[in-house]
Amino acid sequence: MEGVYSMEGSVAALRAAVALRRQLGLQLYLDEAHSVGATGARGRGATELCGVSVRDVDVLMGTFTKSFCSSGGYIAGSARLVRWVRAHGHAHPYAHGMAPPVAQQIRATLRELRQPTGQARVAALRDNTRYFRERLRAMGVVAYGHPQSPVVPMLVYSFSKMAACVERLTTRGVAVVGVGFPATPLNQARIRFCLSASHTRAQLDASLDAIEAVADELGLRYSRRPPPAAPAAPHTTAPLPAC
Ligand SMILES: Cc1ncc(COP(=O)(O)O)c(C=O)c1O
Repeated sequence: MEGVYSMEGSVAALRAAVALRRQLGLQLYLDEAHSVGATGARGRGATELCGVSVRDVDVLMGTFTKSFCSSGGYIAGSARLVRWVRAHGHAHPYAHGMAPPVAQQIRATLRELRQPTGQARVAALRDNTRYFRERLRAMGVVAYGHPQSPVVPMLVYSFSKMAACVERLTTRGVAVVGVGFPATPLNQARIRFCLSASHTRAQLDASLDAIEAVADELGLRYSRRPPPAAPAAPHTTAPLPAC
């Protein structure tokens, strides 16, 4: 499973998966590429967000290319698993060793995440994500995903609207990624926004203004949900959907 699904922004139903694992004797492989360093109260990922013990995950995998701003990735698990991957995993005997600056960047990020400054970044990402998602919803576009997912997909449905949206937002100075078939169903092309703790409110507002203008131009206000009554206060403690 993926902690945060990279094209949907949804969070794995981890509690149910752990219960099934126990019941049926399955092995659980969790890809935390988009969740580690980003979700959960302390940024420890989907296991923390869903209240699941890492000991209930057999293979805990992640990349260092997103929250860690570095390169490479990791596999965590039992000592037996790690020994096995070292001995038999293709990458271990054939890949180059990690360059010291790359390894140091990862260690520094891990250290930072344990500090109050790092925790403030996790909180800032949460706030940015919530603010951006709420403004999109208020605009009347369709945005998928969990409130804490820093991956925010906005549905544009047709492939041609996806290309037009990327082109128009790029012209307005907003870098976005368009995703279509085969990464999504044929009729569910989308724009994938990825939020960062470093985005300022002014940057988010400028991007949202550009998105709103493009939503008008291309007819992207597809949502039939009533818009939220009022934006939530920062650091809201509103209950999160179960996962
Ligand atoms: C779910 C998921 N797993 C793993 C990766 C791999 O990341 P990397 O870019 O480090 O190869 C990605 C990259 O986007 C991803 O989305």
